[in-house]
Amino acid sequence: MFYILILWCLTKKFYLRHENCNLTLYITMRKLFFLTLCLSILVCSSVDAKTAPGTFTAGKGTFLLNGKPFVVKAAEIHYPRIPQPYWEHRIQMCKALGMNTICIYIFWNIHEQKEGVFDWSGNNNVAEFCRLAQKHGMYVIVRPGPYVCAEWEMGGLPWWLLKKKDIRLREQDPYFMERVKIFEQEVGKQLAPLTIQNGGPIIMVQVENEYGSYGKDKPYVSEIRDCLRSVGFDKVTLFQCDWSSNFLNNGLDDLVWTMNFGTGANIDDQFRKLKEVRPDAPLMCSEFWSGWFDKWGGKHETRNSKAMVSGLQEMLDKNISFSLYMTHGGTSFGHWAGANSPGFAPDVTSYDYDAPINEYGQATPKYTELREMLQKYTDKKLPSVPKPMPITTVPAFQFTEFAPLFENLTAAIETTDIKTMEEFDQGWGSILYTTTLPNIHKPSKLHIPDGHDYVQVFIDGKYIGALDRRNGDKDLVLPSCRRGSQLEILVEAMGRINFGRAIKDFKGIVGNVELTITIDGNEFTASLKHWRTHLIPDTYEQTQKQVYKPLLTSKPRFRGDRIPGYYKATFRVKKPADTFLNFETFGKGLVYVNGHGLGRIWEIGPQQTLYCPGCWLKKGDNEIVVLDIIGPNEAKSEGLDHPIIDKLQKSEPPIHRKPGENLKLDGETPIAVGQFQSGNGWQEVKFSAPQTGRYVLLEALNNHNGDEYACIAELYLLDENGERLSREPWRISYADSENISSGNQAGDKIYDLQESTYWSTVKGVQFPHHIIIDLGKVRTVTALQYLPRMESTVPGAIKDYRIFVKKDKFKL
Ligand code: GLA
Repeated sequence: MFYILILWCLTKKFYLRHENCNLTLYITMRKLFFLTLCLSILVCSSVDAKTAPGTFTAGKGTFLLNGKPFVVKAAEIHYPRIPQPYWEHRIQMCKALGMNTICIYIFWNIHEQKEGVFDWSGNNNVAEFCRLAQKHGMYVIVRPGPYVCAEWEMGGLPWWLLKKKDIRLREQDPYFMERVKIFEQEVGKQLAPLTIQNGGPIIMVQVENEYGSYGKDKPYVSEIRDCLRSVGFDKVTLFQCDWSSNFLNNGLDDLVWTMNFGTGANIDDQFRKLKEVRPDAPLMCSEFWSGWFDKWGGKHETRNSKAMVSGLQEMLDKNISFSLYMTHGGTSFGHWAGANSPGFAPDVTSYDYDAPINEYGQATPKYTELREMLQKYTDKKLPSVPKPMPITTVPAFQFTEFAPLFENLTAAIETTDIKTMEEFDQGWGSILYTTTLPNIHKPSKLHIPDGHDYVQVFIDGKYIGALDRRNGDKDLVLPSCRRGSQLEILVEAMGRINFGRAIKDFKGIVGNVELTITIDGNEFTASLKHWRTHLIPDTYEQTQKQVYKPLLTSKPRFRGDRIPGYYKATFRVKKPADTFLNFETFGKGLVYVNGHGLGRIWEIGPQQTLYCPGCWLKKGDNEIVVLDIIGPNEAKSEGLDHPIIDKLQKSEPPIHRKPGENLKLDGETPIAVGQFQSGNGWQEVKFSAPQTGRYVLLEALNNHNGDEYACIAELYLLDENGERLSREPWRISYADSENISSGNQAGDKIYDLQESTYWSTVKGVQFPHHIIIDLGKVRTVTALQYLPRMESTVPGAIKDYRIFVKKDKFKL
C-alpha cells in the first residue's frame, strides 16, 4: 500500500510540475496507477489468507516445521463455544499467552443439523476462523471427528443418525460410514485449501478421537483415515490421540501418535510405552487438561494452577509438544452441552473448565502464571494481553407474560405404543405423552425403565412426581384415580451422552411404561398403550408460536404447584456489554435472548447464571424467553457482573454415605486379601475362585505414602470370561469418605471412564477406607483391575486391601 501512495503522489507531482505536458499522458499514467492499485489489493488480500506453501512433519524426536525443529504450543478453543464477533479477541488472547497454534474440533452436528443440509456460515464459518488464526500468526490443528467427545451433544454426532434404530455408531456400519464420508467431504471443501501445504495455517489433522476408550477396531479407524486423505488431507500430517493405557489397541502404523492426560500426571510415565514402541517419535500431549467440566448437581471442578504450569514447563524442557485443553472453554450455548456416562451425568451450559482464559474471555491468575512461564521459552516479547470485553449489569426485572405449557400444546399424534423423540423426527427439547388411565383403586406403581431424561408425571394436570435419570429413578406411585383420568408424562431431553458406548442415547421414553395395579388382592402389570404425543421442540420459533397472557405476579402458581411454561420479559440495556443473567429462582429449562439460545438452566446448580454475550444484546429493549418445564418459584431475573457457576441448591450433597451410616463388617469374610504395588499404572487382582454377588466392597487398610488418604482413579471387574463388566449399571452404594469440598472426588469417579479423575477420601479421616459398588444385579466376577492416581507421587496409593463380594447389601 505504501508503494501505491508514493506512486499516486509522484503522478500528481509530475502533472503539477509539467502542467503543460500532454493530458493524455497524464490520464494514461493515472490508469496505470489504478491498475497497479487493483493488482496490489488482489495480491495483498491473498497474502492475508495465504502464505507460501510449507511443510509440517514428524522428524526424529521432534516435529519439523519447514524442515526445522518445532515445538507445538497449542491452545484448544472451540469456535461454536465463542460468539463469532469475539473469535479474534480469543485468538489474540491465546497468542498473548505464548501459544503458537490453535487446536479445534469440528462438531459435525452443528454443521449438519438436518441430514444433508450443511451450514458453514456465521458462527459456523470454520474456514474464516482458521484464516483469523493465520492472520495472527497462529498455526491450526483440526480435529474433524467424526466423533469428538468434548462434552458436546452426542460427542458431535448428529442425532438424526438414530432414526436408523439399529445403527452401529463409530463402526463400519454402512449408513454411518456413508454419512461420515459426506460430512468429511464438506469439511475437506472448507479446510483442505487451508493446509500448510496449500499455504494455509493447518499443520495437523486428527483421525477420530480417543478410539481406545470406545473399542478395538483398526479397520474402522483406517477407513476414517482413508476418508480424510480422500477429501484433501492427503499431504497434511495425520495423527491419532489416545491414552497411554490403550493407544496400541488402534494405533495405525502410518499415523503420528499423541497422548492425552491431565494436570498433575507423571509425564515420563505417560510417554513410557510410546517411547518403547517408537523410540524416535516426536512426543506430544494432545490434550493436557487444564481443568475439567461440570455436571448438574456436582461441585464446580477446579484444577491446581501450579501443577498445570509445572507440567507444561516439564514438557517444554523435554521438547514435548502440547495442546492445552481447554485454554479457553467458552460456553455450550443452546442445547449443545452433552452428558457423561457411565450413569447419566449431564453437563452444565458453562464450559469454563477452570481454564486459563475464563468462560467470558478474561485472563485468570492461571493465565498470568502460565504466560510468565511461556515467556521464558521464546526470544520474542509476547504481545500485550488484549483488553477484556466490557461487562455490564442489568437491573432486576420481572417476567410479564407467560404461556402455560399444557395450554399451548401442538396437535396430538396418536400411536398405539409409546415412541421415542427420534421416531417423531424431533432432535431436542421436550415431549409430552398422554394416555387414559383405568380405574385405580389403590396407590399403584408406575414403572418407566428408560425415561430420558427428566420425567414429570401429572394426572389431569396435577403434578404427581418426577423421575430423574441421573439418579436411576424408574418407579413412581400413582394415587388412586377414576377411570378416564389422563396420565400426562412430560419428558425433557438433556444433552445426549458424549462418551463411551452409551452415545447411542435416544430421548423421550425408550421402551414401555408399565402400570401395576392390585385387583382383589392380585397384582396385574400391563404396558400402557394408546398414546397421544405432543412435540415440544427446542427452537426459537416454537417460543414465538405460543399464546402468551399477562403474568401479574412474579410467583405464578397453579393449584399450589409451579407452572411449566414459557415465560417472557423485556429488559433494557443502556450500552450492550457482556452480562450474566441470573436464574436462581427458575426451575429447569432453556433460555433464549433475542432469538439466541443461551443454554440450559437448572435450579440444583452448580450453575445459576447464564453468560449473555454483549454482542447478542441491543441498546434499548431486549427480549428474553425462558421455557421452564418445572415452573419458576419467582419469575424474575437480573444481569450480574460476574457468573455464579458454583452454587448447589435444593439437592443432596453428591456423596454416597447417608447420615448415621457406618459399615459393619463383623461376620463378613473377604474373598481376597493382598497388597497393591506402589507406582503408577494398572494392576490386577485375580480371585482364587469365581465369585457371585451384586455388592463389591474394596477395603483399603493403609497406603504406600504413610498418610491417611485412599484414592482410586478407575476400577474394573472381570467376568467369567475375563472380560471387563459393563459399568453402565454401576452405582456407588457407600463410600466412607469423599472429598467434594476442595475437589470433586466423589466415589463415582472410579467408574467414570476417565483415568485422570479419581475418588479421594478427605483429610483427617483415617484408615480403613471403604467403597462399595452396587453392580445393578448379581454377577460373577473373577478379578479386579485397579488404577491409582496418575501423579508421579501417586497420592492415596492403596497398599493392603481386602475385597468382599455379597449378594445382599452390606450392613450400614
Ligand atoms: C477427552 C476427550 C475430549 C474431552 C476431554 C475431557 O480427552 O478427547 O474431547 O471430552 O476428554 O474434557
